[in-house]
Amino acid sequence: MLTFDTVYRAFDRVDDIQKAKYASSIMGPPEFQAAVKSWLFESAGLDVDCDIIATPGGTGALSSTIKNTLKHGEAVVYPDIGWGPYITIAKEAGVMIEPYTLFDDNRFNVDSFRETCEKVMRDQGRVLAVINDPCQNPTGYTMKLDEWEKVIEVVNELSEKGPFILLQDIAYVDFTTQGEAYKRSFSRYVGLPDNVLIIIAFSGSKTLTAYGMRVGAQVLISSNDEQRTKMKHACGNTARGVWSTVNNGAMRLFADIALDEKLKEAYMLEKQGFVHLLKERADIFVREAEEVNLPIYPYEEGFFITLKIDDQIVKNELHLKLKTLNIFFVNVYGGLRVAICSIPINKVKGLAKRVKDAYDDVMQTHDENDET
Ligand SMILES: Cc1ncc(COP(=O)(O)O)c(C=O)c1O
Repeated sequence: MLTFDTVYRAFDRVDDIQKAKYASSIMGPPEFQAAVKSWLFESAGLDVDCDIIATPGGTGALSSTIKNTLKHGEAVVYPDIGWGPYITIAKEAGVMIEPYTLFDDNRFNVDSFRETCEKVMRDQGRVLAVINDPCQNPTGYTMKLDEWEKVIEVVNELSEKGPFILLQDIAYVDFTTQGEAYKRSFSRYVGLPDNVLIIIAFSGSKTLTAYGMRVGAQVLISSNDEQRTKMKHACGNTARGVWSTVNNGAMRLFADIALDEKLKEAYMLEKQGFVHLLKERADIFVREAEEVNLPIYPYEEGFFITLKIDDQIVKNELHLKLKTLNIFFVNVYGGLRVAICSIPINKVKGLAKRVKDAYDDVMQTHDENDET
C-alpha cells in the first residue's frame, strides 16, 4: 500500500494527547472545519458559505446523508455502475435504490439521470441523487463541464416540484489530473434555488491515503439557511448517536497539513508524483486494451479501470478464470474492476493481452455450449 511521507511525518509531530483525546466538538474542531473549507474551496479561490460536519471517512458522510434525507421505503437515485457499498449503505438505512444508467456510449447519461430523478420526484415528492465524480469508482470516468451543467439544469427544474438533494461523492477529488482546478467547479453550487441542498461527501482518509484513520466530512451548501441548519443538527445528532466524535489525531493531522502552506505544498508535490504514476499505468493499460480489443468503460483518471462485460455469465466465468491466472479483479455491476493503483508498471505491461486471451477462451467455451 502506498503511504505519503509528508503525511506520516506530520502525523509523528501530532502530540500524543491530541491522538488520545476526544475531539472538542461532535461537528469536528474549528481548525478541522477551517481546514476542510480551505482545502475544498479557498484553495480554489472560492468563498462558499457552508456547514461542515466531521464524519468517519466518506462512508460516514454518505450514510448520514441518506439516513437524514429519506424515510424508510423511499428511494435514493444511484448510478447503475457504482461503488459496491452504496447498496449496503442504502439497505442499512432501510432505503430502496432507483438506478440511473451511468453511460450513454462514452458520455455521462444525462437523459437517464433526468428520467430517473423525474420518476422519483413523482413517486415521493423529493429526490436524493448521488453522483461520484471525479475519478468515478469503478470506471475512472470524470464528467465534462457541459455534463455537469445539464445535471444542474435537472436539479434546478425538478426543485420546483419538491426538495432536491444532490450528494456529490468526491472520494477521489485529490487524485484528478486536473489538480486544484477541479475544485473551482464547486462554484456551480453557489446561489441555487431554495429547494436545493447540496451535500459534498469528502474523504480525508482517501486524500491522505490513510484509509484506516477514518476521517472525512459532510459539506452542506444551500441558499435556504433554515433547511441547511436543520440538516446540520440532524447530522450532528446522527454523529452523536452512531459514532460519537471522529478520530481526533487524524483531524488534527489534516488541519496541520491543510492550514500550513509549506506542509501542504510538500504534500501536493508528493501526491502529484502518485497521480503521475497512476496515469502512466493507466495509459499503458488503456492503450494495450485498445490494441487487443478488450472492451473497457470510458476511463479518464483515478485508481480503477473497468472491463465492460454485459453478460453476467461470461463476466462471472472470466472472473474465476482470471483468479486461476493470479489476476484478481473485482466483480462489479456491468464488468470487472482493475485496481491499477496497486499494479506496478512491469505487471501492467501485457496485462490487457493476458486478460483478452482469457476472455476469448471464456467466449469460445460459451459459444460452444450455446451450440450444444
Ligand atoms: C466512491 C467511494 N466513495 C466513498 C468511499 C469511502 O471512503 P472512506 O474510506 O473515506 O469511507 C470510497 C472508498 O473506497 C469510494 O470508493
